[in-house]
Amino acid sequence: MKLWGGRFRKAENSLMEEFNQSFGYDKILYKKDIEGSLAHVFMQVKCGLLTEEEGKAIEDGLLGILEDIENGKLPLEGDYEDIHTFTEANLIKRIGDTGKKLHTARSRNDQVAVDMRLYAKEKAFETAELLSELKSTIKKKAEENPCIMPGYTHLQRAQVVTFKHHLMAYYNMFDRDEKRIKNAIEILDECPLGCGALAGTTHSIDRDITSEKLGFKKPVDNFMDGVSDRDYLLELMGDFSIIMMHLSRLSEELVLWSSQEFRFVEIDDLYSTGSSIMPQKKNPDGAELIRGKTGRVYGNLFGLFTVMKGIPLAYNKDMQEDKEGFFDSAETISMCIRIMSGMIETLKVRDDNMKKAVKGGFLNATEVADYLVKKGVAFRDAHGIVGNIVIYCEDNDKAIEELSLEELSGFSDVFDESIYEFIDYENILDKGIKKNLR
Ligand code: ARG
Repeated sequence: MKLWGGRFRKAENSLMEEFNQSFGYDKILYKKDIEGSLAHVFMQVKCGLLTEEEGKAIEDGLLGILEDIENGKLPLEGDYEDIHTFTEANLIKRIGDTGKKLHTARSRNDQVAVDMRLYAKEKAFETAELLSELKSTIKKKAEENPCIMPGYTHLQRAQVVTFKHHLMAYYNMFDRDEKRIKNAIEILDECPLGCGALAGTTHSIDRDITSEKLGFKKPVDNFMDGVSDRDYLLELMGDFSIIMMHLSRLSEELVLWSSQEFRFVEIDDLYSTGSSIMPQKKNPDGAELIRGKTGRVYGNLFGLFTVMKGIPLAYNKDMQEDKEGFFDSAETISMCIRIMSGMIETLKVRDDNMKKAVKGGFLNATEVADYLVKKGVAFRDAHGIVGNIVIYCEDNDKAIEELSLEELSGFSDVFDESIYEFIDYENILDKGIKKNLR
């Protein structure tokens, strides 16, 4: 069935028909398509475009279709152009000619626009919820593990931090991500149904009714914008990309930390896989896959940016290309957040190894310089003095705190016994991270 056959003398080329079809992927919108139609028919009756009986027949027909899709009696398959054609064709098949009145005062352009908004909004809420769960998991793991660890810059040991502080950095990233998603929901929360093809309709419809029925804040202000706006998808896909970037950085840390070189954590068997040839291997595939899937989420964002950049107002068929990328990104992000939550929840933290790693690498060198400053030495001079101490320690295979007061005094005469307490790692944490951490 075609929704537009009347004007044509010839049937569509079969390759063209296949090329044009979106049903293979937009069938995922079936529920939103029916919800949108239910709101539309409700409004049609309220505004006198249909009689109560006609409205009831259409409503029952749509609800029956929904029920049968969900219980498997009506499979989402067949030779339909798109989900809108599927729904309408099945409605007409079930209730006869009355079904043909559903499309009064509507176009597929505002229909697909409302379907996608509803779907995007739902996915956005789900993502915010998943982020909130991930945040709780991270917080719990952080609080259970306040152990000391080396902090890095340039992946070189820098200063002491705690595992808790390190993990909580990610908590803060995901917290901002959640806010970004909620902000995107706030902006997209306008209803495009009633915009028609691009110019509204001469039928006296009431867009407030459909907007309210579908749970939107208000109808969109401009018809042409309403049917051709895909900003909200780009915004969400941008937010998804930032989330993936954060997940990917954390994944990279898990990969590094679980290596034999670090041995700071152990990823649970539940989220690891083995090698078909090397019997000893336990690979961090969960983390690596998240890192890898970041590529497709970035790619989908750029795909849609490129689709949209040259399209004149209003609807153009190019826009059908908004779907697969968005569906894929929404699915990918959900999977990745859930896998990350599981990995963090079951992560074994090797605080003994982190503590050992703190011993090497002169992680208290900055505090030795701070000590000298407190004793009246200018910071730039202190920096030079400590640099020399580090060379001496490297040559003699010692940590700074292992030097005697006599050795230290060779570099500056302001050192006294108080230096050892000042550069004790736990004391450094107490004065810095622990004191200032909210
Ligand atoms: N499958 C189409 C899409 O995804 C639905 C809208 C079709 N509108 C049209 N005027 N051909 O964009």
